[in-house]
Amino acid sequence: MRLENKVALLTGAAAAIEGELMGFGGATAHLFVREGAKVVLTDIRDDLGERAAAALRETGAEVLYRHLDVTSASDWQQAVDDTLEAYGRLDILFNNAGVAFPSKIEDLTEETWDRELAVHAKGAFLGTKTAIPAMRRGGGGSIINTSSIMGIVGSPTTPAYSAAKGAVRLFTKTAALQYAKENIRVNSIHPGYATTPLTAERFSEPAVNKVLLDRTPMGRLGTALDIANGVLFLASDESAWMTGTELVIDGGMTAQ
Ligand SMILES: NC(=O)c1ccc[n+]([C@@H]2O[C@H](COP(=O)([O-])OP(=O)(O)OC[C@H]3O[C@@H](n4cnc5c(N)ncnc54)[C@H](O)[C@@H]3O)[C@@H](O)[C@H]2O)c1
Repeated sequence: MRLENKVALLTGAAAAIEGELMGFGGATAHLFVREGAKVVLTDIRDDLGERAAAALRETGAEVLYRHLDVTSASDWQQAVDDTLEAYGRLDILFNNAGVAFPSKIEDLTEETWDRELAVHAKGAFLGTKTAIPAMRRGGGGSIINTSSIMGIVGSPTTPAYSAAKGAVRLFTKTAALQYAKENIRVNSIHPGYATTPLTAERFSEPAVNKVLLDRTPMGRLGTALDIANGVLFLASDESAWMTGTELVIDGGMTAQ
């Protein structure tokens, strides 16, 4: 039980149904529950999220679903308040919601640029800002922000996404510095190409699939579980002396 007595809030975590393709948030929710945490799943896909939470509760887990658009400060406050009301504390925040709109820069609209920055960068900022007071009251916490390999190296296809994920990467380090003394750790994860509801359609196109596999030394795409195992480590006390760091899980892609 690596997360016994801990309470976790996860964003972008509706795809969490056993037997269906899960996202990073969904797979992480399953590991968190297995390790003894109480979990609040959040997303904007409310039907799916409610079904996922109900299925997890049937296994005996303590799981809630709440609507949370990560770009909305009032949604954040409501979700954190609901978490405290239901479970009395908040120990772990997984800022994971995401969108991806491939485009050439010349074709990229301001709306898409703003959306990418809002969901990823503003979302991580608002989540961190809202969670910190609750974590402080509990004596500390762990925040894990989903960046990407595209927050480390350039992406040939997703300029706004890369800018947003780069912002998440350095926001993480600044938040880590500001709250280190309060035992609130903030780290980022940097997944490589992985098959999830966000990517399954695009990544399975044969031409795209070949390019991604060619770029990935280990010769396969990642799974949501590959990423969730890293998130679990950063959420647990096993990473107690880690803050402001970046955990790359990418089959070797950025080693080249
Ligand atoms: N799959 C990959 O190859 C890959 C690689 C690197 C990083 N990522 C990142 O991982 C994270 C999780 O993505 P995933 O691949 O597991 O797919 P996913 O589809 O399971 O997760 C993304 C979720 O974010 C939700 N979402 C979108 N906009 C939102 C908003 N405004 N507020 C709240 N939720 C919102 C979606 O409804 C969806 O459920 C994303 O941040 C993504 O950018 C994915």
